[in-house]
Amino acid sequence: PVEFRSETDSETPNSEDLFQNSIRPLVSIIVPTFMEAANLPVLIPQVFEALNECGMTAEILIVDDNSPDETSKVCAELAEKYPVQLLVRKTERGLSSAVLHGLNHAQGSVLLVMDADLSHPPRKVPELVAAALEQQGDFVIGSRYVVGGSTDDDWSFFRWLNSQVATWMSRGLTTAKDPMAGFFALTRHTYEQARELNPIGYKIGLELIVKCGCRKVAEVPIHFKDRLHGESKLSLKEQLNYLRHLARLYRFKMGQWFTPLLFGLVGASGAIVDLVLLTLMLTVASFPVARAVAICGAMSWNFLGNRFITFSDRKQESLGFQYLKFCGSCTLGAIISWGLSTFMWTQFSEVLHTPQIAAAIGILGGVVMNFLLSNYLVFPQ
Ligand code: GDD
Repeated sequence: PVEFRSETDSETPNSEDLFQNSIRPLVSIIVPTFMEAANLPVLIPQVFEALNECGMTAEILIVDDNSPDETSKVCAELAEKYPVQLLVRKTERGLSSAVLHGLNHAQGSVLLVMDADLSHPPRKVPELVAAALEQQGDFVIGSRYVVGGSTDDDWSFFRWLNSQVATWMSRGLTTAKDPMAGFFALTRHTYEQARELNPIGYKIGLELIVKCGCRKVAEVPIHFKDRLHGESKLSLKEQLNYLRHLARLYRFKMGQWFTPLLFGLVGASGAIVDLVLLTLMLTVASFPVARAVAICGAMSWNFLGNRFITFSDRKQESLGFQYLKFCGSCTLGAIISWGLSTFMWTQFSEVLHTPQIAAAIGILGGVVMNFLLSNYLVFPQ
């Protein structure tokens, strides 16, 4: 069963376009690999067995980032028996860019991406291909989260939560239930609609849904297994990259007003840091001193948020230099924030009741000034 989800109503591409060049293999399967020599000899035969049963022809492109294992030897052996091509990248590294490399070299009318480690069931490949060809969606996901989909029972709570939070954060970009999936298919026609592909991190499927302007996402239920051999390469760094990637995608979809919105969200989190620090500092210091320390802490927090999220697509100078520039540009806002809150607290403490309210008024005063200076001076276009 294929669950059909519509982003908005739209025209579907002409199916005849898909077959305009009958010499091309019908399906190109892109498999990004790093250290997967043990898995490939299991994966490739299973994929071709599934395709042959359905009478589909395919090429497999393995995009390897110069793995120091036996990947090239294994691929050479497999190529004697199957239409397998190894593309080795020596200077670049990364899952998403490897997938794009494969997509750009693919000859097929339908493009399918899957992991090498047998997390994605090879027998489901024909179903995804058929759904793409029949235009049940302009993007087809092998999904864990639709009816009939599942993961191994021993998936840790942390991994499940991680996946759910990441999916929830992408809600404004797609209604797909499993947009984090690395098992998906799309037609060449859809891929050719892509604009400004520049993914960071792991979520190349989400990048394609957004940048190809996919309006209909179909989800085929799959059982997602733990990898057969080896280890996942999904590090904490990749998870932080996901936040940067999301910021880019939202900016792409929503336009430039997203930057002030994000700046506001980082600032709002900084305001919480400010108030928490103020409350702690008030136990050992006077209001003006506590407020000054809280402002410095919040400023550092805001700098990190803006460098790594809000303005992550801008020119990146050295961390220390940009930090000093940021603090310099915030000085005026900080003085306004400190001065206003100290004035409010000394003059109106009886009306305001708590020092946090005085601080909040000061924070508001500083925010507008800080955005203007950051946008035009610290992180220019
Ligand atoms: N070329 C290349 N370069 N391939 C890579 C790299 C890289 O830097 N990093 C990972 N890969 C390959 C792996 O060899 C594997 O075939 C595939 O990309 C997935 O990598 P894993 O490290 O096994 O991913 P995972 O199991 O943690 O993540 C899985 O779940 C995600 C959703 O939760 C994958 O299925 C992802 O595709 C999926 O997004």
